[in-house]
Amino acid sequence: MCSDDASTGAKTGRGEGEGRIARLEIRLTGETFVAEVAVPQLLGNALACAGFSLEMPCGGQGRCGKCRVRAAGALSPLETASAASLGEDSGIPAIVASPSVEEANSGETPSPVPRIAHTLGETEPPDSSDAPGELRLACRTVMEGDCTVFLHAEESTGHLSGHPARLCSAIAERNKNSPDLLPLPEGLLAECATTALSLSWKATEQEEDVRAALSRTLANAGFSLSDAERRSALRNALRAWAPGKDLAVSVHRRRGRTWLTSGGEELCGAACDLGTTTVACRLFRLRDGALLATRSGRNLQSHFGGDVIARIAAATAHDPDDPGKDTPLSRLQRLAAETLETLMLQAARDAGISPSAVSEIVCCGNSAMHALLYGYRPVFLSRLPFLPAEKISSELPGADLGLHAFGGASVRFLPLVGGFVGGDTTGLLLAAQILLPPKRRRLLLDLGTNGEIVLQWEERLLACSTAAGPAFEGGNISCGMPATEGAVIGVERTDEGWCCTVAGGGAPAGLCGSGLLDALAVLRGWNLVAPDGRLVSPGEASPQFRPLLSGDTGGNNRGIELAKGVRLTQKDIREFQLAKGAVRAGAELLLEEVGGTWSDLEECVVAGAFGSSLKPESLVATGLLPPETAERITPLGGGAGEGCRLVLLGGDPLWNEACRLAAATDHVDLGGHPRFQETFVRFLALA
Ligand code: FES
Repeated sequence: MCSDDASTGAKTGRGEGEGRIARLEIRLTGETFVAEVAVPQLLGNALACAGFSLEMPCGGQGRCGKCRVRAAGALSPLETASAASLGEDSGIPAIVASPSVEEANSGETPSPVPRIAHTLGETEPPDSSDAPGELRLACRTVMEGDCTVFLHAEESTGHLSGHPARLCSAIAERNKNSPDLLPLPEGLLAECATTALSLSWKATEQEEDVRAALSRTLANAGFSLSDAERRSALRNALRAWAPGKDLAVSVHRRRGRTWLTSGGEELCGAACDLGTTTVACRLFRLRDGALLATRSGRNLQSHFGGDVIARIAAATAHDPDDPGKDTPLSRLQRLAAETLETLMLQAARDAGISPSAVSEIVCCGNSAMHALLYGYRPVFLSRLPFLPAEKISSELPGADLGLHAFGGASVRFLPLVGGFVGGDTTGLLLAAQILLPPKRRRLLLDLGTNGEIVLQWEERLLACSTAAGPAFEGGNISCGMPATEGAVIGVERTDEGWCCTVAGGGAPAGLCGSGLLDALAVLRGWNLVAPDGRLVSPGEASPQFRPLLSGDTGGNNRGIELAKGVRLTQKDIREFQLAKGAVRAGAELLLEEVGGTWSDLEECVVAGAFGSSLKPESLVATGLLPPETAERITPLGGGAGEGCRLVLLGGDPLWNEACRLAAATDHVDLGGHPRFQETFVRFLALA
């Protein structure tokens, strides 16, 4: 089924005009793409069917405004609920009554496979005019017939993901703020032996196929390959081996596996943190553990909603016996693989290496991300007792997961702890154990959309996860964005106000998690935000800040301009409070579980999308951590990804240690905890 209404919360069911096919024209940076899609259906779904998924952090509830696009043609009338999310300055004409998206798009929507008719702007738009259309929320607008959508038009905030030219898209900006890597302990690197060989083209003339010639050369050099290794070696050799020429190759032996690279290329591996909102991939040279390139970007699954609950709902809503290749589950699986593949390809290009040099990939993520990457229907994560499909996954070739450019590479996913506490928690725990000085009582926080918390208390390990929402990663924030180029990554108080640090040093484009945290700390310091999270009125603010405050009194769109074009609204502050309250409550309850207090802790390790920009003082100023921890906060920039790096570079001993830690950790289920709600409410305040 092409439609993924479960992700948008809209009811499904065919309405009038059932089965009609309409023309969807997509204009993007000078190019025009045309697809044929079924109507009526939600515009966001139609775009996704055409391969142009938009980020939909609120899961299509019409609240976040992130799916804004300009559109013209046969669209449903603008619904009342969309107006606030489109913004007060959108220039939207008078609002009419809701068109009832549910009515128009109710029931099972038709699901033809859309066809991209042609590209490069040879056609006229349906209305034959160059009018740029009007601003619409793609999640609340029904496409009723032919229409044109202008992506990345000036006012559009829609973030493109599935575009055929996605390697150039904004989802995979180079992360110039790669955290400094902590030094590896001596002797951790797994051994890698490399032998230089020459493949003779003449040898191919004496054999019946190229594979036989390759096998003989390798056998003569003492290499006996498994079928899978031989296939990978052949594929890699054929990339550069041409008739009439000899080819210099390197044969690498590592972890009992043989891998061939051409032209003396070094063996490489990737460590990938598959977050719900942000995905980070780092490429390493396996011989010495050198970092070659880092890429991070949005998880392309965001079209199905900003949190794991929305994605689990989408993945489990369809008929499990539907063998279709376009079920929400299969689409979520493909989007996870595409995100990883896109970022790894970008990183390989940055590093100047061929994807075929990547022989190993180690991933981590929460239990939902694990299930969706492996294509497991996450039905046991949708209800009590919240069980992952499997805690330890077998090592698979990349091709099995849809990582086609890395099809021969072996993929491992860090072992899961239980419930929603996944391999990212294991990665963080492993990183703290191996890379940080030993402690007896330590708290580990991974501040992502799924906030994971681990308490190491003497010999005990306890972990829980909280649905923090994507605020820490810039999701569901009006001007939110990942910590990539253009993001405000830090805000510092000055004598007159504050100054912002922008990633890449250019003009500010949005606000990422660390910028949001700092901004709230500074605004609290200037009393522009009250302890209960209320943004003060202009009358209550110091005179120098009054011009920066705008919006209706008491409304959610009230806000303050942090930097040119970057505004923090009352709604953003509430989003942060929800995330902060959930994480703090989780930590409080774990401490309660062992009868400990914050003062008993020797260290609080904080990791997550904040990366190396995290300021410990902002954690305390916003009440995410209490004042008694101020001197004992250790930011761990790479976070869970550091655990992936360790397993990638250290090989099987580190994998075994990760399995041991995951098995030794007790999962505390906060969902069923009788005091979670009251604790959560108690810690919503920014103090
Ligand atoms: S407003 Fe459309 S996805 Fe949030």
